[in-house]
Amino acid sequence: MSNDTTIQLLSGNSPHAPIGLAPMAGFTDRAMRGLSLGQGAVLAMTEVVNAAGLTHDSKRTYHLLETGEHEHPVAAHMYGIEPAVMAEAARRAEATGRFDFIDVNSGCPVRKIVAKGAGAALMGDVPRLAAIVTAIREAVELPVTVKTRIGLTPDTCNIHDLSAAVEDAGASALFIHGRFACNKHSGPVDWDLIAEVKQKRSMPIWGNGSARTGEEAVQFLKQYGVDGVLIGRGAIGNPWIFREAQAAWEGREIAPRSLVELRETVDVHLRDLVALKAMERKYRHAGALAAQTAAVMVIRPHLLKYVGGLPGWREVRRALNDMRTIDEVMAAVGRVSSGQWGMGSEQWWGK
Ligand SMILES: Cc1cc2nc3c(=O)[nH]c(=O)nc-3n(C[C@H](O)[C@H](O)[C@H](O)COP(=O)(O)O)c2cc1C
Repeated sequence: MSNDTTIQLLSGNSPHAPIGLAPMAGFTDRAMRGLSLGQGAVLAMTEVVNAAGLTHDSKRTYHLLETGEHEHPVAAHMYGIEPAVMAEAARRAEATGRFDFIDVNSGCPVRKIVAKGAGAALMGDVPRLAAIVTAIREAVELPVTVKTRIGLTPDTCNIHDLSAAVEDAGASALFIHGRFACNKHSGPVDWDLIAEVKQKRSMPIWGNGSARTGEEAVQFLKQYGVDGVLIGRGAIGNPWIFREAQAAWEGREIAPRSLVELRETVDVHLRDLVALKAMERKYRHAGALAAQTAAVMVIRPHLLKYVGGLPGWREVRRALNDMRTIDEVMAAVGRVSSGQWGMGSEQWWGK
C-alpha cells in the first residue's frame, strides 16, 4: 500500500468506515489480524514489540512481526525509550517490507515496560515522545503514528499538550484510548475529551475504548467526530464486529453469522496459529503435534469468546484445559448447539 493511501486512510478518507483493530499483546497476532481485516477492519497493528529486541536481532521479537501475505494495512507497533533505538527498530521493521506504518506505544501501563520509562511512562516525558516521533520520521519513509491514553492519572492529564507535541513532531495520526493509564483497562472512557482533542488538532485523531458492537463503534465515530475508531476486546472471538460496523456505516442490514461460519473461522484461525507456531524453533524441533498444542494454548481465550453464550459453550469451557489438537478443538466447537444469535452478543463482555 502506498504511503499516500495509508495517510488517506489514517485521515478517515476511505470508502469504508474508518474502524480498525486495536493492538493487544497476546491476541493481535497474524491470525487475528487477518480475520479482522478480512471482515472489514480498515487497519490493524501488531502485538507490541520491544524496539531493542529488533535492534538486537531477537528472533522472538521478529517472530511477533510475522504478517500474512496480503495483510494490509498493518502497523509495526513498538515500545522503547531511546529515540535512536526506536528509529533503528523502525528502519528494520520497514526493511521487512511488510508494514504500512510505524506506531509508537505511549499507553501501555504494564509495570515492566513503564519501569523502563517506555509505554505509558512516555506520557510523563512528552519531549522524549516527540523526539522519538521525530527520530523515526527521519529514519523511515513510512508514516508514523502514536497510540496513547488521555493521561497517566486524572491529576496529570496532559493529552492536549501531548497531542500538540506529537502533531508538531509530524505524526500522521494519534490513536487515543480514552482512559488514564492508572485505570488500566477498566473504568469510564472519556470520549468527550477525545472529541475535544479532535477539535484542537489538525492531525487525524482516532478514538478507542469500550466499543462492544459494530453499531457502537459507528456511533462513537459519528457522535464524537473522530477520524476513526479502534476496537480491541470487542473483536476477540468476534471478527464479524467489523463486518457489522461496515454494514451499520452503510445503513445495510446483514444476516447474523451462522454456525457454519463460526466453525470455518475457528478452523482458519487455528490453522494459521499452528503455521505460526511451527515457525518457532522450539516447536519445529518438537514436531507437528507440539506446534498444534502451542496453537491450542493461544486460541483458548479466543475460543471462549467465539462460543460464549451459545448453547453448550460451558462444555467447551470445561473441556478447554484438556484440548491439545486441532481435531479436539474442532470437535468441541462442533458440539456447540446450532442456531443463530445476534451480532455483538454481550454475554461474554467483561468475563
Ligand atoms: C489483553 C490486552 C492487551 C493490550 N495490549 C496493548 C498493547 O500492546 N499496546 C497498546 O497500545 N494497547 C494495548 N491494549 C489496549 C487496547 O489497544 C485498547 O486500547 C483497550 O483495550 C481499549 O479498547 P477496547 O475497550 O476496545 O478493548 C491492550 C488491551 C488488552 C485487553
